[in-house]
Amino acid sequence: MADLRRKIGPGVRLRAVGVVRSLFKEPSDLPPPAFAPPRFFERSLGEIEVFPEFAEALDDIEGFSHIIVLFHFHRAGEAKLRAVPPGESRPRGIFSTRSPHRPNPLGLSVLKLLRRDGRRLEVAGVDIIDGTPVLDIKPYTTRDRKSRIRTGWLQGKPRPAR
Ligand SMILES: C[S@@+](CC[C@H](N)C(=O)[O-])C[C@H]1O[C@@H](n2cnc3c(N)ncnc32)[C@H](O)[C@@H]1O
Repeated sequence: MADLRRKIGPGVRLRAVGVVRSLFKEPSDLPPPAFAPPRFFERSLGEIEVFPEFAEALDDIEGFSHIIVLFHFHRAGEAKLRAVPPGESRPRGIFSTRSPHRPNPLGLSVLKLLRRDGRRLEVAGVDIIDGTPVLDIKPYTTRDRKSRIRTGWLQGKPRPAR
């Protein structure tokens, strides 16, 4: 194990390629998915502003209806290995939740791409707070769509984690 860890190295440094513009200013401004009104997130609009030096990387993105946005939960605070999800009574391993309090505070949201205006992407489905550093953007493709999935402890919950 020690050998393997040495081979892997100390970790990675990532730089932000842009920033999220959202109506939600604080993590507490967003309802937990389990308590959000129906279609709340579909109607939640915002923008991804890509920094000028990465603008060229947006070429051809407008052909996609949805994008995967990877971001830094920069306001997550302390990492946890287990946490009680909102509305639940028992803790779950953090890797089986979408909690921001992760060993590596990385978030992933699939957003609807409404419009591209230069290096600004207008998006819907935003569950991210304003000023969040964006680490990467990828197109959402048919390969990402899975059928016949198992949803573990979320099975049968009315509003599954996003
Ligand atoms: C349950 S997480 C899901 C986010 C993403 N869809 C995912 O699965 O990684 C959404 C919550 O993260 C919190 N949040 C959003 N942006 C954040 C940020 N930059 N730092 C810390 N918490 C954030 C908000 O409270 C929001 O309700």
